[in-house]
Amino acid sequence: MVEQLGDLRRTHTCGALRAGDIGREVVLLGWVHRLRDIGSLVFLDLRDRYGLTQVVVREEDGTIGLAKGLKPEHVVAVIGRVEPRGPDAVNPKLDTGAVEVVAREIRLLSEARRPPFVVADDTPVSEEMRLRYRYLDLRRPRMQRNLLLRHRATLAIREYFDSAGFVEIETPILTKSTPEGARDYLVPSRVHPGEFYALPQSPQLFKQILMISGMDRYYQIVRCFRDEDLRADRQPEFTQVDVEISFASRDLVFELIEPSIARVFSAIGVEVPLPFPRMSYAEAMARYGSDKPDLRCGMVIEDVSEAFTGTTFGPFRSALDQQGVVRGFVVPGGAAYSRKQLDGLTEQAKELGAAGVAWARRTPEGTLQSPILKGAGEAAVNAALERVAAGHNDLLVMAAGEADATSRVLGALRLSVARAHDLLPVDKYAFVWVVDFPLLEWDPNERRYVSMHHPFTAPVDEDVARLEERPGEVRAKAYDLVLNGSEIGGGSIRIHDPALQSRIFRLLGIGDEEAQARFGFFLEALQYGTPPHGGIALGLDRIVAILAGESSIRDVIAFPKTTAAMDLMAGAPSAVDDRQLAELKLKTVGPRLDASSSV
Ligand code: AMO
Repeated sequence: MVEQLGDLRRTHTCGALRAGDIGREVVLLGWVHRLRDIGSLVFLDLRDRYGLTQVVVREEDGTIGLAKGLKPEHVVAVIGRVEPRGPDAVNPKLDTGAVEVVAREIRLLSEARRPPFVVADDTPVSEEMRLRYRYLDLRRPRMQRNLLLRHRATLAIREYFDSAGFVEIETPILTKSTPEGARDYLVPSRVHPGEFYALPQSPQLFKQILMISGMDRYYQIVRCFRDEDLRADRQPEFTQVDVEISFASRDLVFELIEPSIARVFSAIGVEVPLPFPRMSYAEAMARYGSDKPDLRCGMVIEDVSEAFTGTTFGPFRSALDQQGVVRGFVVPGGAAYSRKQLDGLTEQAKELGAAGVAWARRTPEGTLQSPILKGAGEAAVNAALERVAAGHNDLLVMAAGEADATSRVLGALRLSVARAHDLLPVDKYAFVWVVDFPLLEWDPNERRYVSMHHPFTAPVDEDVARLEERPGEVRAKAYDLVLNGSEIGGGSIRIHDPALQSRIFRLLGIGDEEAQARFGFFLEALQYGTPPHGGIALGLDRIVAILAGESSIRDVIAFPKTTAAMDLMAGAPSAVDDRQLAELKLKTVGPRLDASSSV
């Protein structure tokens, strides 16, 4: 029978008791983790978020009847005495493994339905099940560890920013569309029928206005909302560590942000060397095939075009004739690849959209091997191997074509090889600032330039003069922070001059009227004495996921959504009742889609 807690208080958590506590009378409160009934004795592992304690119920104690009726996940109080375990029963793997609690009384505080999966072991459970019964999933050690890790990370962040003179200021959740370029989540207004608030994609304009307000160092751990296609590293609502700094150069932003990251890592015992290296966007794209270069594994992409300038080998010749390139990377130890592994590389390159890849290596005897040996000639292949300083154990993997596309294919291939060779350990942390992004990129669908970051990003000073003539070549004072191939932050120095802001809007094809309608309040504020300023937003979920060694940010968010943007536990989104719609003067049209609940 379920009893009340009354005045009963726990004296210890389930992870606390040690040999030094032997002889103490204790009260433990927790969940039944496992039960073993051996007739005259019942062993019960009691669990809370601090650990497990073995409880023994003996026949002579009146409480054994109740113990025998317990089920996993029931919530109980155990009142008893700490005793040493017999020498054979000591469990060195458990913090409390030297002792057990001999129960004098057990009270059942709450019954549990039979859980749809066993909480007590780590048997894999489908993601759908985990999200549907998130409260059970969160009882498992992995998720408890992740939530605590997240807590420690946010605590370290708050301590750091406070110590560096930053003020945490909250910005509105019900607001106007912000400029990050994804779709908005809209909230209808009841008081102003037909009008909508937008949930912020980021607090971008508010934080800039805080600089205009004189709050010269702002930060906020803030939820952002973006209605975009979801992946393992994207959620429709996610958390940013949002930062803005007045009178900031890019270097000052880096100097203030790097220690915040170091603090978070040191909170979990990892010392991160500062400062972080920097790499231009152009170099990242050419040498890693990505603006999120993973620097853990070497295998940098090199240009070997020169080795083939005189080639008559078809695919290389036509690439070079069309201003393209031949590039490649070295797989250390790859000389030993089997035919099957080599064919696998070609297959993968084709899947990635390349016409093919060529490889080259020297046998231990020094004989040159390459499928293009005949076509391209020994001298050229040798020159390519020399250009990349390939050793006897190495394999050179090459592709030819348009520069960016070629590096992209090789970049993906490089990561896949690195994964296969275990060269991307989760406990190695390679940071890099990617800098000098282009300000604009051409959108072939809209047939106009769009901001690569957002329209409030300042162009590099030397490039401002070229804005109208060669917009595609203008660099931005924008930067991303990349960790292990994942973009964990992005920011920029902002435009603080209203005239320059108008020029950028014109380039983006945003007319005065549209600019006024979308950002008028901000453009007006810019005219009242705006300090030069800049900032960044760090993706907290991604940082914590990397710290936790998780491949999906879902595993570091207490209540995440599926890739179909659903909350399987709460059942959101859901239909609302007609009265609510009527009050909002809203009508839905068309049949309701039966959204898939895939994770
Ligand atoms: P940006 O759009 O680059 O910049 O976002 C900053 C960082 O937030 C993280 N992030 C996400 N994490 C999880 N799910 C998502 N859907 C998601 N989208 C972004 C990434 C990213 O680097 N206002 C600017 C910042 C600035 O200019 O100061 C902004 O939001 O880690």
